[in-house]
Amino acid sequence: MCGIVGFAGKVPAAPILLDGLKKLEYRGYDSAGVCVYHAGSLQVAKKQGELKNLLAVTDNGATLPGNIGIGHTRWATHGAPSDENAHPHLSQDGKIAVVHNGIIENYLALKEMLLAQGVTFRSETDTEVVCNLIAMYYARSGNFLWSVQMTREVIVGSYALVILCADEPDTIIAMKQDSPLIFGQGEGCNFVASDVPAILKYTREVVYLNDGDLVVMTADSVRFLNRQSATVEKKTEHIAWDITAAEKGGYEHFMLKEIFEQPSAFAKTISPHIQDGKVVLDGVSFEERYLKNLSRIYVVACGSAYYVGCVGKYVLEKLCRVPVEPMLASEFHYCDPLCDENTLVLVISQSGETADTKLALLEAKRRGARTLAIVNVVGSAISKEADDVIYTWAGPEIAVATTKAYSTQLAIVYLLGLYMARLRETITDGEYDELLAAIQALPGQIAALLTEEKIQEIQDFAKKFHQAEDVYFIGRNVDNATCLEGSLKLKEIAYIHSEAYAAGELKHGPISLIVPGTLVVAVATHPDLFDKTMSNVKETTSRGADVLAVTTDAFADEIGKTAGQWVLIPETLPLLQPSLSVVPLQLFSYYVSLERGCSIDKPRNLAKSVTVE
Ligand code: AGP
Repeated sequence: MCGIVGFAGKVPAAPILLDGLKKLEYRGYDSAGVCVYHAGSLQVAKKQGELKNLLAVTDNGATLPGNIGIGHTRWATHGAPSDENAHPHLSQDGKIAVVHNGIIENYLALKEMLLAQGVTFRSETDTEVVCNLIAMYYARSGNFLWSVQMTREVIVGSYALVILCADEPDTIIAMKQDSPLIFGQGEGCNFVASDVPAILKYTREVVYLNDGDLVVMTADSVRFLNRQSATVEKKTEHIAWDITAAEKGGYEHFMLKEIFEQPSAFAKTISPHIQDGKVVLDGVSFEERYLKNLSRIYVVACGSAYYVGCVGKYVLEKLCRVPVEPMLASEFHYCDPLCDENTLVLVISQSGETADTKLALLEAKRRGARTLAIVNVVGSAISKEADDVIYTWAGPEIAVATTKAYSTQLAIVYLLGLYMARLRETITDGEYDELLAAIQALPGQIAALLTEEKIQEIQDFAKKFHQAEDVYFIGRNVDNATCLEGSLKLKEIAYIHSEAYAAGELKHGPISLIVPGTLVVAVATHPDLFDKTMSNVKETTSRGADVLAVTTDAFADEIGKTAGQWVLIPETLPLLQPSLSVVPLQLFSYYVSLERGCSIDKPRNLAKSVTVE
């Protein structure tokens, strides 16, 4: 969602802020702005639309001299995308400037109080209210830090706030609650940002801030204060990955690059957890007794991460013989879930910041469940809150539509299933060895799906079907779970209405929507269910559907008898097949989106990390 960068240094701030905002564009935004202190006042420039609009009005930052400033990319919540609603916001008296990620829940009451005092507002945002609130306290006290601290006592909601004061032109104050914020230590300069890529060009030394933390920084100094206003020491973390990991590297889109990174991301994710032919999970401290008494697993997540949970249901139930319930995080919190000390709540999140998932995690903990998080971003809120964490090593994922994070999350689910099944004694040694060997073979098999020939095949299907208006994905068992992800990909990046149905469910209603020419994507990899899925495919072809099937090499001779066109994928064990069948679906969506001229990496209305409920 919104992105933040703040800089205090000895060189012009605006170009650095604009460069940081460029690196945050992937988060999804609809306006951008910067504020720089210069010659006694706070100068603001902000524009609706893409960052290039802001670059144009500021002549790439040249019109805004000054060595300290704050910048923001906004994803509208309160008020439409517009120049007025864009951040930074300036207080009515011009003394305070603020950028903000999150939502201030009690902003209306605060706004009324400020209106009654004669404050006028230029925007519809909650952020402008915070800005004027700080200014109100500042007008009374002349103390910048105290004014920010007082404001923190009054506001309710989620925030990463970065603030400038015209009377203290060397200082930036930032604070956080339920919205990500990091501090970066540079050479003769300091940074705050919502995400590492914004500042990685300038520093690798960062501090991940906790809820309640407040930072007071200048170019040469930094002070961290906790909620009780005591000065605290913070551990600096070194970022090991390179900025090139967050750049396109010659690919037309981040999404395509990330699809191609899947073999290596998968291998990197599993390799630390396989030693001497056994799965080791260093981030997990399950006692054998706990696992034996396990009565239920909830897999709680949003979007694609939830669909990993849908695959996880089949994998974990089959291997561990324990009931597994995938639940949307936004529903979990409010459904009075049945949790006790024998419940494991597995939360999955690429960003580790998704508000719904974080709230569900906190709710699970409150109810006494044990929590385990599968997370990609080190130091993220979810990684800090969960009892145990297993990281996926996908590297930074920039495209809004997830691909490599999804694949690496699946990898961890397989390993977790094997690990728990062994301790629960629900798997034989032979099955264990066979599965582990098959998991280790997956990176090579994924790579085999990314050859020029395969890509060309899928590109041709995309050309043929890109004008489809309604698409139905059907499959059974794990193939059904894969269909959910394939359908979401098509919706989010190609803006095509699509639905995923269990193949056997079609005849109970949705088949009435199949008319001549409707595209049906059938995923049929499960050897025991192939014939049954083909029967369902026939139900659609006999009503005129055009079928594109995804099946394994094992059915190369069979598939043409039912489907008009097909993609063959390598065969693995049925439970692991989703790691392969999802790849042509990702590529299909990518090329359909390309044909339709959509914004592939930054689809409309979407954000990479959804930090509001
Ligand atoms: C997937 O392509 C989407 N961008 C979205 O569904 C995403 O998976 C979801 O918002 C969850 O995000 P998270 O993994 O960062 O928690």
